[in-house]
Amino acid sequence: MTVYQATASAPVNIACIKYWGKRDTKLILPTNSSLSVTLDQDHLRSTTTSRADPSFDKDRLWLNGVEEEIKDGGRLATCIKEMRALRKQLEEQDPSLPKIAAFPVHIASHNNFPTAAGLASSASGFAALVASLSALYQLPADASRLSLIARQGSGSACRSLFGGFVAWQMGERADGSDSYAVEVAPREHWPDIHALICVVNDEKKGTSSTSGMQRTVETSPLLQHRIKHVVPQRMAAISEAIRARDFDAFARITMADSNQFHAVALDTEPPIFYMNDVSRAIIALIVEYNRVAVANGGKLKAAYTYDAGPNAVIYAPKENIKEIVELIVKYFPQAEKFKDPFGLFGAAGVQPQ
Ligand code: PMV
Repeated sequence: MTVYQATASAPVNIACIKYWGKRDTKLILPTNSSLSVTLDQDHLRSTTTSRADPSFDKDRLWLNGVEEEIKDGGRLATCIKEMRALRKQLEEQDPSLPKIAAFPVHIASHNNFPTAAGLASSASGFAALVASLSALYQLPADASRLSLIARQGSGSACRSLFGGFVAWQMGERADGSDSYAVEVAPREHWPDIHALICVVNDEKKGTSSTSGMQRTVETSPLLQHRIKHVVPQRMAAISEAIRARDFDAFARITMADSNQFHAVALDTEPPIFYMNDVSRAIIALIVEYNRVAVANGGKLKAAYTYDAGPNAVIYAPKENIKEIVELIVKYFPQAEKFKDPFGLFGAAGVQPQ
């Protein structure tokens, strides 16, 4: 008997230009385009196995060994339904293919890092889910096509289908068919950029991105300014900085956009605070580190960015990573030993006060 099963994995991505706000909550269409770097290190990944079998009674999913409910009309159900529809199309075009679209699927997904710790687990999770179903169904779909479906699981997931530097174009159409991810540059274009993750707090975040975004869209005047007058220019400028491998420009835009995203969260009614005192102390450290570099006639040496949580991601050229790690350990003596400080994308644990 043939076994229909496939495994795929996808890494976390961290945005430099933040996605924050939906213009369509069901299709997950954003109010602005965004751009991220996919972290290619092995220890920030979701790995997902999907299996289709006529003996299964219904679709089921396990996340880190615990079964999750697949709610009718929910995001998981939508992604599975869309992938199944693509397989069905294929089976209709080629009647010699086995009719596996009709079988229920069992899906097991595993994150090798804390789930929902502000480390974008939903991004890697939905990207791996869609990639594993694509392999199971042997779809000819390319990464941008799959990103249209991953987007409906979690917006930022659409960017994790590509490695390297990735843009999610917001699109204009009401059906979302032009709201997908594209590659800006592959990882090999600029291998010198590394990311250091400082885990300030690995607990589940207070305000989920879904409810936070909705409140921001409904109440923040600053968001309206950001989406019209700030993000379009920044998308163009950071894409250019990546093409030119201009770290100084990349860093300035990345930090400015993190700041504006958190300003928009604060501009929400009631206000949302994602960063804490440790997050702000890390910002102060990076600002001072850059100030000294510039005062000595140099350029920016590091860029911080924060998602919907207190954890810092620091992007820097590889040659600066050792120095930054030493600074963090000096000013945060409670920081845990770095697991992989000098490899690609090291992770660090900075415990709060
Ligand atoms: O895709 P979501 O709903 O997890 O939202 C992600 C939002 C941010 O991480 C804050 C920004 C981004 O572009 O990834």
